[in-house]
Amino acid sequence: MPFQFIRTDLANHIYTITINREDKMNALNASLLQEIKKAMEEAEANPGVYGIIITGSGKKAFAAGADIAEFKDFSKSQGQQLSEDGHAVMNTVENCLKPVLAAVNGFALGGGCELAMACHMRIASPNAKFGQPEVNLGLIPGYGGTQRLIQLVGKGKAIEMLTTADMIGAEEAQQLGLVNHVVDQAELMEKCYSIINKIAVKSPQGIAKTMECVKAYFDTNKDGMALEIEHFGSCFDTKEFEEGTSSFLEKRRANYRN
Ligand code: COA
Repeated sequence: MPFQFIRTDLANHIYTITINREDKMNALNASLLQEIKKAMEEAEANPGVYGIIITGSGKKAFAAGADIAEFKDFSKSQGQQLSEDGHAVMNTVENCLKPVLAAVNGFALGGGCELAMACHMRIASPNAKFGQPEVNLGLIPGYGGTQRLIQLVGKGKAIEMLTTADMIGAEEAQQLGLVNHVVDQAELMEKCYSIINKIAVKSPQGIAKTMECVKAYFDTNKDGMALEIEHFGSCFDTKEFEEGTSSFLEKRRANYRN
C-alpha cells in the first residue's frame, strides 16, 4: 500500500518503516501516525516478516515529536482524541508479537521518544537525543510517555526528564537502560538486522509467548506468572518443541521456519 509520510521496505524478512518528513525533523502528524499503525498491522499479518525496524529519514532525527503546527489550535476534545489515537498507534507497536526495534538516528523527542519507547528495543547512534519536552509547550506527553519512561528508566529519572524537559544523549540513555546499544550511525541498521536475524532462527512461538508474558508484567489486569505457566505448558505438544528438542539431541541446528 502506498503511504504519503512513511516509506516501507521488506527485505530479507525484515520490514523497515522509515518516517519520511526529513524537512520537519520527522515530526509525527496524525496521518503519519495512522500510516505507522497500518504498516505495523501489515507487517504483523505477513508471515514472511520476522522482525520490524522503525527509523527516521536523514541523519538528524528519528522523530522530533508530534506535529506542533498541526495541533496548535486544537480544543480539549480534539486534544483528547489526538492522545487516544496516539495511544492506539503506540499499543499496536508495543503489542506486536514480532520484535520491533527503534533505530534511533537522531532526535527522539516527545512523541518520537514515545514511539521509540513503544518499540521492544532501542538501538541508537551517538548523536541520538531523547527527551519529553512537552512541559515547554504547556502540555504533558500524550502517547504513553509518562508511563513507559518510568518502566524504562525508573521513577526518579523519569520525573526529572518529564519535568525539566532536559534531553539526554545516547550514552546516558544506554546507562539508564533506555537504549540497548549505541553504534555509529553508518552501522545502525546493520546492528538492528543482526539482532532480528538472531531472533529469527529461534522458535517463533517461543518469541511470541515471551512477548506476551513480558507485556503481562506491565498489565495490571493480567497475572504474568500465571500466564507464564500457561504458555510454558502450551509449548509442549507443538511441532516447534519437537523440532527444538530433537535438534539438540541430534546435534544439529533447529529449523523452525520450514
Ligand atoms: N512539530 C512541527 N514541526 C517541527 C517539529 C515538531 N515537533 N520539530 C521540528 N519541526 C520543524 C521546525 O518547525 C522546522 O520547520 P521550518 O524549517 O519549516 O521552520 C524544521 O522542523 C527544522 O527544525 P528546526 O527547529 O529549525 O531544527 P533545529 O536543528 O534548530 O532544532 C529540534 C531541532 C528538534 C531541537 C527542534 O526542532 C525542536 O525543539 N523541535 C520540537 C521538539 C518538541 O517540542 N517536541 C515535542 C512536541 S509535543
